[in-house]
Amino acid sequence: MLKVLRKPAIAGLALALSLPVSIPTFAATTTDTQPTVSPNKPSISALTAPSLAQRYNGEFTIGAAVEPSELSNPNDLQMLKRHFNSVVAENAMKPANIHPTEDTYNFEPADQIVQFAKENHMAVRGHNLVWYQQTPDWFFIEADGKTPMVTETDPEKREENKKLLLQRLQDHIQTVVYRYRDVVKSWDVVNEPINDGNSTNPEGLRESNWYKIAGEDYIKVAFETARKYAAPDAKLYINDYNNEVEPKRTRLYNLIKKLKGEGVPIDGVGLQSHVQLGWPNTQDMQTAIDMYSSLGLDIQITELDVSMYGWPVMAYPTYDAIPQSLFETQADRYDQLFKLYEKNADKISNVTFWGIADNHTWLNDRADVYYDSKGNLSLDPTKILGLTKSAIVGKDAPFVFDTNYNVKPSYWAIIDHN
Ligand code: GLA
Repeated sequence: MLKVLRKPAIAGLALALSLPVSIPTFAATTTDTQPTVSPNKPSISALTAPSLAQRYNGEFTIGAAVEPSELSNPNDLQMLKRHFNSVVAENAMKPANIHPTEDTYNFEPADQIVQFAKENHMAVRGHNLVWYQQTPDWFFIEADGKTPMVTETDPEKREENKKLLLQRLQDHIQTVVYRYRDVVKSWDVVNEPINDGNSTNPEGLRESNWYKIAGEDYIKVAFETARKYAAPDAKLYINDYNNEVEPKRTRLYNLIKKLKGEGVPIDGVGLQSHVQLGWPNTQDMQTAIDMYSSLGLDIQITELDVSMYGWPVMAYPTYDAIPQSLFETQADRYDQLFKLYEKNADKISNVTFWGIADNHTWLNDRADVYYDSKGNLSLDPTKILGLTKSAIVGKDAPFVFDTNYNVKPSYWAIIDHN
């Protein structure tokens, strides 16, 4: 394990930062000013490095989540064409984006992504049709246009609300799925339906507005409608996070088993895979893959990123402050993950990263402050690093390409891990 920091100015800070328990703490033992990339793993430009998608050709497709704005950035375009043969809209197809009011669809951003994929012969994952987040409120308002359905106590009105909600859901799915049926061959039909912790319902279903108003039926109706309007060869997925570990793994397994028994057309499970350097372990992942595929389901890794941090996030304040040793640890982790994926290539049809390179990741949104082990802001970075207050945002580094489109040790780990 390397114990070298990239920049001496950071050493004091890095020492003082108390990292989450789930990842090792790194100490500065030298004042080297040079990055410590191993000579056999040069940090070459990813824009010309051997293609990831080609490396896994014949095993599974390699995807990236994209925003339409990235399609007008020449570097992102080149990265997508070179390393990926599948894309998913990071946000553009979510209900709030594509169907902001009951009478308005905003197809343009999603169309751009689909058009790009078509022109470049890439697969498209559709994400997502039903979710408890990024879903506009209008879905859950009574016919009177103002009363929230969840507050209704009258049983008759509750029944009417359920019908109305399911009708809206069908309209939404029919419109979106049908529009992209020629291109989208895998749909995240229901996203995150399972509860994380204690559950008041025995199935462990998330008590979202969908569930409170329509019970489990929202899941059935969503899949049945998607099946009706999607291409015959499209596959329909239920997608969730932490579904490699308990309690979600068994809850999701039981739910799908029951629904499939009732004839609900579920084809696969998406393992989002927002993972950390040391969690969850690959044994749990293997168990999950075995359990879900024992139900005859396809597996896709739908939102892969390997955060440098545990939970709660205690982030380094700048990208350059992240110790080189953490990049090496991340490479080991990527190596393990892709070994697991390759071993299960007969069960896994796609591996999608939730972004392209480290310059754009949702993980930075949750790393916007950094804490000590007691949850307090640990130091004053304005004094230590000379940062302005507005620049105090934490940085994560979850992908195999860095912020300058160079390859990271993690890239070498997965392009050449045999
Ligand atoms: C979930 C969703 C994704 C994305 C990520 C984080 O995993 O499925 O669409 O929003 O959260 O941004």
